[in-house]
Amino acid sequence: MTHNHLLVLAPNKPLPVQSGALARAPVVEVLSAEKIFPNGTRALAPIDLTVGAGEFLTLIGPSGCGKSTLLKLIANLIEPTDGRILWWSGEFHKVETAGRSLGFVFQDPTLMPWARVESNVRLPLDLAGVPKSESGERVREALARVGLEGFARHYPRQLSGGMKMRVSIARSLITEPDLLLMDEPFGALDEFTRNRLDTDLVRLWWERKLTTMFVTHSIYEAVFLSTRVVVMGAQPGRICRIMSIDEPQPREEGFRNSLRFGEYCRALSASLTEVSLAPLQA
Ligand SMILES: Nc1ncnc2c1ncn2[C@@H]1O[C@H](COP(=O)(O)OP(=O)(O)O)[C@@H](O)[C@H]1O
Ligand SMILES: [Mg+2]
Repeated sequence: MTHNHLLVLAPNKPLPVQSGALARAPVVEVLSAEKIFPNGTRALAPIDLTVGAGEFLTLIGPSGCGKSTLLKLIANLIEPTDGRILWWSGEFHKVETAGRSLGFVFQDPTLMPWARVESNVRLPLDLAGVPKSESGERVREALARVGLEGFARHYPRQLSGGMKMRVSIARSLITEPDLLLMDEPFGALDEFTRNRLDTDLVRLWWERKLTTMFVTHSIYEAVFLSTRVVVMGAQPGRICRIMSIDEPQPREEGFRNSLRFGEYCRALSASLTEVSLAPLQA
């Protein structure tokens, strides 16, 4: 992958912290978007952020700093109090609400317990009126992508937590969305399962050229997965720093044990400490 903004680092030099300059075509632009809930909570101070095609962008920050709110704004599940969210259509025209194509994965896999895995994955196609003759092959392919071939006829209760999450990911990708939003998807899983899912997610992201926005509380997960990590602060929710993780892709297990990985984790941890110690703003 080529990054025009790639910084080549000598060991022990400071890691790159940048303001968000971007060399890729944008998928979404958040322009001075602000969210104040009716009860007066200022969930997001005006935020500017551009998500580029093919990025794996992770939001990290203390609880209540507006990570979920930002994803919901981008998904048009809630409206900004002020500012705008622009999407770029295939021809790179800016569009407001039309032209959004996205998948959303939550911490809870939210599967229909009475329906087989294949029916759960097919749901978005059924809702879009795609005939079963066409959707069958796409469901098979989606399940293979997440390593669940052979489980199409199972029910959710027959699957482990990690497998249910794989079903949820397959369902979110079946419509080939321009943007994949993932809100703490692996937060409830044990670390071993989470690491496996992270490794598989990186491969999937790389092979399918997905553009992904991911939320996590885990510094390790953020560093392993991301091309950029956005550090957010609370009260009001805001972007404090953006760190590029310029490392070869697709990342593999070995990256976790590398010196560079440890350096990134330390730098990110220091940023988070700084954010949580910063004085509150009015
Ligand atoms: N529907 C809502 N009404 C009022 N306040 C809300 C609502 N949703 C979220 N908030 C508040 O907005 C802030 C940001 O919430 P959220 O985006 O969920 O944070 P995060 O995902 O980073 O933990 C928090 O203070 C939260 O309590
Ligand atoms: Mg949240």
